[in-house]
Amino acid sequence: MADAALRPLRVLLLAHGFNSLTQQVFARLRARGHVVSLELDISDAVTQEAVALFRPDVVIAPFLKRRIPEAVWRQHLCLVVHPGVPGDRGPSSLDRAILRGEARWGVTVLQATGEFDAGPVWATASFAMRPATKASLYRHEVTRCALAALSQCLRRIERGEGAPAPLPPQPGARAWPLLRQAERAIDWSVDGTEAVLRKIRSADGSPGLADSLFGERCHLFDAHPATPQALAGALEGAPGAVVARRANAILRRTADGGVWIGHVRRAASANAGEGDAPLKLPATEAFAEQAAQLPELPVPLLRDAAEWDELHYAEHGEAGARVGVLRFAFYNGAMSTRQCERLRDALRALRERPVQVLLLAGGPDFFSNGIHLNTIEAEGQAPGGSAADASLRNIEAIDDVALEILTITDRVTVSALCGNAGAGGVFLALAADEVWAHPGVVLNAHYKNMGNLWGSEYWTYVLPRRLGQARAMELTQARLPQPAADAVREGLLDACFGDDAEHFMALALARALAMASDAGHARRIADKQALRAADEAAKPLAAYREEELTRMRRNFYGFDPSYHVARYHFVHKLPQAWTPRHLALHR
Ligand code: COA
Repeated sequence: MADAALRPLRVLLLAHGFNSLTQQVFARLRARGHVVSLELDISDAVTQEAVALFRPDVVIAPFLKRRIPEAVWRQHLCLVVHPGVPGDRGPSSLDRAILRGEARWGVTVLQATGEFDAGPVWATASFAMRPATKASLYRHEVTRCALAALSQCLRRIERGEGAPAPLPPQPGARAWPLLRQAERAIDWSVDGTEAVLRKIRSADGSPGLADSLFGERCHLFDAHPATPQALAGALEGAPGAVVARRANAILRRTADGGVWIGHVRRAASANAGEGDAPLKLPATEAFAEQAAQLPELPVPLLRDAAEWDELHYAEHGEAGARVGVLRFAFYNGAMSTRQCERLRDALRALRERPVQVLLLAGGPDFFSNGIHLNTIEAEGQAPGGSAADASLRNIEAIDDVALEILTITDRVTVSALCGNAGAGGVFLALAADEVWAHPGVVLNAHYKNMGNLWGSEYWTYVLPRRLGQARAMELTQARLPQPAADAVREGLLDACFGDDAEHFMALALARALAMASDAGHARRIADKQALRAADEAAKPLAAYREEELTRMRRNFYGFDPSYHVARYHFVHKLPQAWTPRHLALHR
């Protein structure tokens, strides 16, 4: 969607939430020169009012859970993004495609009519399926295809053309109802690892796979295959038995192997109120007592990648020109105190490794989204717990990670973003010397949406050093998503390349190897050390941290509860009551 528009259109985005795809469409259409406004789908009356106020040339619904009101689609061209192939209809398209083991799937842009997903097809795009969660396919492949398909639609509208000739439906495609949990239930006595993974992934991130653990109903998320070596070190047990733990995950036997389950949402207790709904949490925290009884199976950082853990490290290249790649695949990019401590310890241990460049690769779907708001909320809800204390502990722990990166001065550090980054996760990436991403990555370099949180992670050091003080403040106040290519243009990122995450990582490794063997490497390290020393003399990192934490303590413990309220709304996914004014131009 990079080319300039032939003529600027007034585009109203109508969405259930300002999710990653909607953010991309919003930012990219604006970059093309269109006038874009957003209305969240709160009620039919609000949608009609938005249309009347904005008078759009086209309404685009990138992510909608309800029908567009008839009064709107009858009078305005409304295009709906459906994550399915032409002819496929229904709310569980991607879930079903994963369950059926489809080799290819697609995205269709349809014109809204009285029937769900049944209007004229304006554009389609298809992708090869990957063994990944529904949310991961959505954030990568579906988003890329939706952007390409919308681009075709907008070109037609810019040229004054209508819908293209009707497409024949894909063989086998049909209208499907909402997928019920019973249709993907795991039968632990017969389902092998492949089937268990497919079922859990089809429901991950939402609604999760309904199952039970330790005799209690729950939903499962974040599943990974276990190796025979891991199973050999675990307890004996029948299929379905929980037989070990590692990091945040528990190991469960399947009919022919085992799976690590990283996240779980327990069932609500019978007398729970509306605000007590259990949260999606690391499995070892959701079932802390039971998990503590299990044998722990730790693994070294440097190991075969098939052996699952959130942290993984590998080295590439010749001695004297080596690159270390540290992956930290924290589910949803959320980093709890414990996860931050593990990452800090890993970074410390890696100081001993003889590498010239350290690539910080984050996870496949997110680089980082900052502190773990769900574990903070859960700690606050626990008897005698304090969300303020838990928040401060988590911030101190993520600051320690940032400090560790900032003080690595004997090698070049590069953050390589395979997925999006938000809030503190962006500033964690900026702690490295260079920051690279692929064009599908979106950054949300601001904290303000979380109840006016001031922010930490040394952002007051790392952001102005790239953008200058004035632009740094402007960016954090504007609260807008920024695609990686735009971020490079203003110097927030250093480079944006590759077709997708996989291609990007291959290119990033090649670039890092070239940097590691570059004749100017020693000079670069000397310059880096001199700059860090000069910066430290001008204002110590400890001073930045203390200033930020002073403001954060006020957010956590002060009389204004905005942060606690915003966190509560976020973790419980409460519907928005209005569209944020900085996104709704028409209001
Ligand atoms: N803590 C816990 N969970 C988080 C999280 C965090 N910091 N950031 C994201 N998540 C979870 C979401 O709840 C969601 O969970 P789900 O799997 O149950 O659906 C999932 O990650 C994806 O997030 P979502 O908001 O749907 O992704 P997005 O791409 O649409 O938006 C952000 C990305 C970063 C804009 C948005 O997730 C966000 O604002 N996160 C909070 C960032 C923050 O304030 N961090 C704390 C200060 S450092």
